[in-house]
Amino acid sequence: MAEEEPHFDDAGPVGSIGFKADNVSPYVLTKASQREAQSILDGDNKPVSELHKDKYEREAGRNWDIFYKRNTTNAFKDRHYLSKEFTELSAHSCRAGREARTLAQREADDGDTTSSDAQSDCRPVLVDFGCGVGNAVVPLLIKNPHLRAIGFDISKRAIDFLNNKWRRVLANRGRTVNLKDLNADSEETTGPPGEQSAAAPEPPSPLQPSQPTSSDDEEMAAAQGQQDRNIESIPMEVGELVHGFVHDITKGDPPEDVCPSGSADFALLLFVLSALAPAHFRDVAQRISRVLRPGGVLMLRDYGRYDMAQLRFAAQRKCKIEENFYVRWDGTRTYYFTVEELREIFCGCGLVELENRYHMREIVNRKTEQRMRRIWIQAKFEKPSHAPAAAEET
Ligand SMILES: C[S@@+](CC[C@H](N)C(=O)[O-])C[C@H]1O[C@@H](n2cnc3c(N)ncnc32)[C@H](O)[C@@H]1O
Repeated sequence: MAEEEPHFDDAGPVGSIGFKADNVSPYVLTKASQREAQSILDGDNKPVSELHKDKYEREAGRNWDIFYKRNTTNAFKDRHYLSKEFTELSAHSCRAGREARTLAQREADDGDTTSSDAQSDCRPVLVDFGCGVGNAVVPLLIKNPHLRAIGFDISKRAIDFLNNKWRRVLANRGRTVNLKDLNADSEETTGPPGEQSAAAPEPPSPLQPSQPTSSDDEEMAAAQGQQDRNIESIPMEVGELVHGFVHDITKGDPPEDVCPSGSADFALLLFVLSALAPAHFRDVAQRISRVLRPGGVLMLRDYGRYDMAQLRFAAQRKCKIEENFYVRWDGTRTYYFTVEELREIFCGCGLVELENRYHMREIVNRKTEQRMRRIWIQAKFEKPSHAPAAAEET
């Protein structure tokens, strides 16, 4: 390979990611800049103590809940681009999904075909793993009335925000609304009185890594060419949010009564795998695979290796938990993937890769002229119609 040949090549079609902003452009990470980035990562060679590592793992749910207490519904921008990126969601054949789900269920029940909600309704089912306050699932349901969705998250606050927001969407069908009004929770705090001070933000350790996730998301949103949208027309007919519930995906399968094996046509995993300790990656992939029906598709977006935020963490030399895994100042954590790692994780549990590539965008801050190079990965993995027996085992 020639010296300056790109290692991370984003030269392929940009897909439908919009580039309306003139301060955002694709770029290529050359071998030389990759070496430079790697040397920054290598210089960060003193990870946090085992004590702190365990504490972050133990307190993951609490830290995300405090995150949502602090940021309410303002942490992430609505991901309006998803319908364009994941066209399968709108192109889905209702009958194909129902037949595949019924078959999977019959196999799982060993012949018992008693109807469950997921079976009796032919609309495709989308499960949003780590849905947060619904920045993905709510716009998707507004755009795709044929979808039924289930969302879960480790944070109770996030789920309360999601369910409240969905109630407001339903109440505003047929109207044009300011999206801020749907997020009315952003002015409120949930939880019983008195809880507020108990849950007040607290630095997780003597470490004080910077980079709150919200500003990170602002940059990611800009890099993805995402436009701010305040006004939304909510059609009379929207999809159905069947259930938003609290569940820790690292602790076990989602409950069978809500999210049966083989019931999902689609799974979403958006900037969630990176929030988990690497030790959980394989188990979580297995769980997602179990929930998908044969032919079902997992759609994933997550942070890519050498993303600017990773280099910032590494340069601080006090945030590293383990290789490519860091803690933010608020105790939430983030991993930076390569496409090869994602392939190994998901193909390793029997899924088939449909798409798995880096997206690299350089954003220029118009005021400061600072250049920010963001890298993320967009991937799709399909559960084969006849999964190999080993892929079904854990
Ligand atoms: C970066 S946010 C992304 C939220 C959402 N997917 C989106 O794209 O807007 C990561 C989400 O993962 C959730 N999360 C973290 N660990 C989790 C776990 N073990 N089980 C379920 N959800 C988890 C967090 O509460 C948070 O909502």
